[in-house]
Amino acid sequence: MNVLFVCLGNICRSPIAEGVLRHLAKEAGSSWRIQSAGLESYHIGNPPHRFSIEVCAENKIDISMQRARKFSTDDIERFDKVYALSADVFVEIGILAGKKMDTRKVILFLDELNETSGRSVKDPWYGDKDGYYEVFDEIEKCCRAIFHKYAGKDKSIH
Ligand code: 4NP
Repeated sequence: MNVLFVCLGNICRSPIAEGVLRHLAKEAGSSWRIQSAGLESYHIGNPPHRFSIEVCAENKIDISMQRARKFSTDDIERFDKVYALSADVFVEIGILAGKKMDTRKVILFLDELNETSGRSVKDPWYGDKDGYYEVFDEIEKCCRAIFHKYAGKDKSIH
């Protein structure tokens, strides 16, 4: 499976999702390709937010080597799944993609927990570290659901 997570800055939420899902796949010995990207250009080339790095490290997941990059609509062809971490990001991907939009691939992340949730992972950018713990827990739960849903269908699992 090739999975891309997309948020706004690619420094708070989607890097956590990338780290958590990569960790789950690695633990299970399956060779998934996982990346993350942002819609905005502000943080291109930057490492994840300090609190995202710390909260992941406290869960034995190292995301410090990740660097922010910008989402491209070509990503929709390159990946099996493109997860929008929030509803505003999902809508924006649809606008950018136009005819390239593919709703079998581009999915609101938390809809993998509950198909009709319509829910967003809250943006922790303006808050304190507590918000990053909440975001981590929600992202971890949903990444587990994604891994269990698709791992069995993945030929690369062994
Ligand atoms: P993210 O959080 O989308 O989870 O990476 C944000 C990071 C930075 C900004 C907004 C959201 N910003 O406006 O710079």
